[in-house]
Amino acid sequence: MTGADIRSQFIEFFRQRGHEFVPSASLVPDKDPTLLFTNAGMVQFKNVFLGNEKRANPRAVNSQRCLRLSGKHNDLEEVGRDGYHHTLFEMLGNWSFGDYYKREAIPWAWELLTQVWKLPKDRLYATVYRTDDETAALWRSVTDIAADHILRFDEKDNFWEMGDVGPCGPCSEIHIDRGAKLCDKSREPDHVCAVNAGCARYIELWNLVFIQYNRTEAGNLEELDAKHVDTGAGLERIASVLQGVNSNYDTDLFRNLIRFTENHSGRKYGTNDVDDLAFRVIADHSRAITFLVTDGVSPSNEGRGYVLRRVLRRAARHAKHLGFDEPFLWKVTKAVVETMGDAFPEIRDQQTHVEQVIRAEEERFGETLDKGLTLLEQERDSLRRRQATTLPGDVAFKLYDTYGFPLDMTQDILRSDGIAVDLAGFEACMDDQRQRGRDARKLGRVQTDTLLFGDALTDVGQHSHFLGDHVYEADSRVVALHAHAAEQPEVREGDEVHVVTAETPFYAESGGQVGDRGVIVTDRGDLIEVVDTQKARADLVVHIGRVVRGAIQKGAPVRLRIDRARRDAARLNHSATHILHAVLRDHLGKDVRQAGSLVSPDRLRFDFTMNGPIAEDLLRRIESDTNAHIRENDELRAEEMPYDDAIKAGALAFFGDKYGDIVRVVRLGDYSVELCGGTHVRRAGDIGLFKLRAESGVAAGVRRIEAFTGEGALEWVRQREQALLEVGALVRGGEDDVAERVSRLLAQQRDLEKQLKALQSKLAGSQTDDLIRQARQVDGMKVLAAEVEGLDDGAMRDLADKLRSQIGSGVIVLGTARGDRAMLLAAVTKDLLKKHHAGNIIKQIAPLIGGGGGGKPDLAQAGGKDPTKLREALEAVYQLVH
Ligand code: ALA
Repeated sequence: MTGADIRSQFIEFFRQRGHEFVPSASLVPDKDPTLLFTNAGMVQFKNVFLGNEKRANPRAVNSQRCLRLSGKHNDLEEVGRDGYHHTLFEMLGNWSFGDYYKREAIPWAWELLTQVWKLPKDRLYATVYRTDDETAALWRSVTDIAADHILRFDEKDNFWEMGDVGPCGPCSEIHIDRGAKLCDKSREPDHVCAVNAGCARYIELWNLVFIQYNRTEAGNLEELDAKHVDTGAGLERIASVLQGVNSNYDTDLFRNLIRFTENHSGRKYGTNDVDDLAFRVIADHSRAITFLVTDGVSPSNEGRGYVLRRVLRRAARHAKHLGFDEPFLWKVTKAVVETMGDAFPEIRDQQTHVEQVIRAEEERFGETLDKGLTLLEQERDSLRRRQATTLPGDVAFKLYDTYGFPLDMTQDILRSDGIAVDLAGFEACMDDQRQRGRDARKLGRVQTDTLLFGDALTDVGQHSHFLGDHVYEADSRVVALHAHAAEQPEVREGDEVHVVTAETPFYAESGGQVGDRGVIVTDRGDLIEVVDTQKARADLVVHIGRVVRGAIQKGAPVRLRIDRARRDAARLNHSATHILHAVLRDHLGKDVRQAGSLVSPDRLRFDFTMNGPIAEDLLRRIESDTNAHIRENDELRAEEMPYDDAIKAGALAFFGDKYGDIVRVVRLGDYSVELCGGTHVRRAGDIGLFKLRAESGVAAGVRRIEAFTGEGALEWVRQREQALLEVGALVRGGEDDVAERVSRLLAQQRDLEKQLKALQSKLAGSQTDDLIRQARQVDGMKVLAAEVEGLDDGAMRDLADKLRSQIGSGVIVLGTARGDRAMLLAAVTKDLLKKHHAGNIIKQIAPLIGGGGGGKPDLAQAGGKDPTKLREALEAVYQLVH
């Protein structure tokens, strides 16, 4: 029975029992900021459990791709070392949303395992929550499991929670005894071979969770209105049991991938432990990478992108171990698609994109991997010599920062040598770097770090009401206030301050659009200059600024006024971003996805997924089409509606953003529909001109377009024009023939350089005889130390060569002054190399001209900054060579 058979039998079994098949959700959780990755089948149903969302069918089934790499049990280092740890795995699950409960869920699971899949009943165990008598009784009455195979455990094993907050409840797990020979702890003296005792002999096959509570932020359990069933069974494990193998990697789900690597590396799985680890790591990680990239994640140094990068780089290191010197992982994508593409068609659709992203990251890392490994080896040797077992934190940091080695990769590599990393030292280096970054970001004197005001203000229990797109000025009241120096009731002149008001016309930075600036004033003439506006938590708008005049206190009535010109400029850029997005999708295909954006008053920046640069003529067309849409002058329409309706209407959502249940949809013509809370123009024509400035790559598979609009575009065109005029004036040409003029000048310059060279060599030639005559005899050897004129370095060297061959045997030192610099050059003929060293001569006389230098025994040179001492330095040569 293949893994694919098992998957479809599971789905079919529950379909026949009224369940609707719901495709696997993305690894990037939709609308759930509490979670980095989808880590269980129920994640996409969280809101249904909480009663915030209804589904037409109260029963569902699927196989959900899950990634467990960001919590406590999820050490990347462990993956590949045994047969059952994974980054990505498939969770088979069936759900009841307020419909059936324990009485159905338990016998169905039992039936599928023992009747359909024919697992021996005497090897199965059921665990139940300590106090859950109902479940224990049901196991006895509705199945024929042996009574002594029903075991009770406490919260740790039998109370399932999705995270710190969210739906949860008691659970009942089914475990299988794989036989005494699989016990991996038999040597440990106190080991008891039993379920939930950490022994590989027993493994959990299926978890049935009876969701009935919600864990709140305060840590309390709230009873839910309805009771639900949420189950999860790891496909890879079930496959290992049904295929009669001891390791998940021996199931067909992984063997296909391992075989692919065998074929390309010429090595065999099962030959030695180190190679086997590499085979398993590559197989496991390739699956995770393929899905992560498919789901819109690209390698970066933060958040999800960093997780992807860590996984990819760890796999790349293991590929290197198997002898791959060229990027290889991208090729494995094909094998992943062959194995899983039928069940997850999205990876097939994205295959080319995925391959390109992986390959680019492999190439990027390949350049530093070798260097980093060499550094690491040197450090390891030096630690060994000193019999030390801790790698200094700054070395680990250098590996991270300069060579792109994720910390856990460094730890992983050193593990077999019993060497640990000084984590405190590493963290200290990281902190230093973060601090440097923060310092660089400080805006004027005012600290804008969101954490600071976030901590101080989130407790006010207030919401700020944003007054909307076209309000520039409004009256309100200060509801919270925080000064940087200390918490104080009144804030005075000069203080940096964070102000929250009940209502505000200030737009807080979000969706890429920068926060507003402006002023807050009182009737008494107090004045606060607002330099930035940020959001704290969900909807607290924090005005960040400085008291310029007077004072301000909580409760004070105030008037808020934004910098209108700045907002208006930003709105042009924001609307232009939407148009550009639509045009890009038009030209580059619907796969193009927004990966980030910046909307500021003076420019816009739009990042999107794509591989390789956009051709010059296509860029022109993109620019032209964007301007054409602007001239169509459609009215911009914004309306609020439920999230699901918006998505149905085709609105583009940006996966990096969190959306509430009610969202704002912004439309332009019939070509652009986006979820967006930002500020926009009234009509497209308000944008005026859209001028593309640059297109570049920012990360693997991510391109960036920068552009100007409105007044900013005009200003940019003017600056260019001005620059052209200035160049024109310099070369005495008009705008139209500047290029021709400049190229003519360059040709002239090349000619002149040629002539100059010829003249120099003539000059050198004419100086030769003269110089030879100046040579003195010192200890029976010819020594010449002389000043020459008008020669560059090359000509000096030529001259020295010529002199050397003419005097046959001797030492030659030439000096020349060039403006406020001086140059010295020494040459020694071959026969004297045993006695004299040009480099040493230069080393001794260069200090006299305020310089330093050296070189080879036969030729050396130096520069200095004191030409007046040239003669002295040359004279010294005669003494030196005695
Ligand atoms: N949500 C449950 C789990 O992840 C089924 O184990």
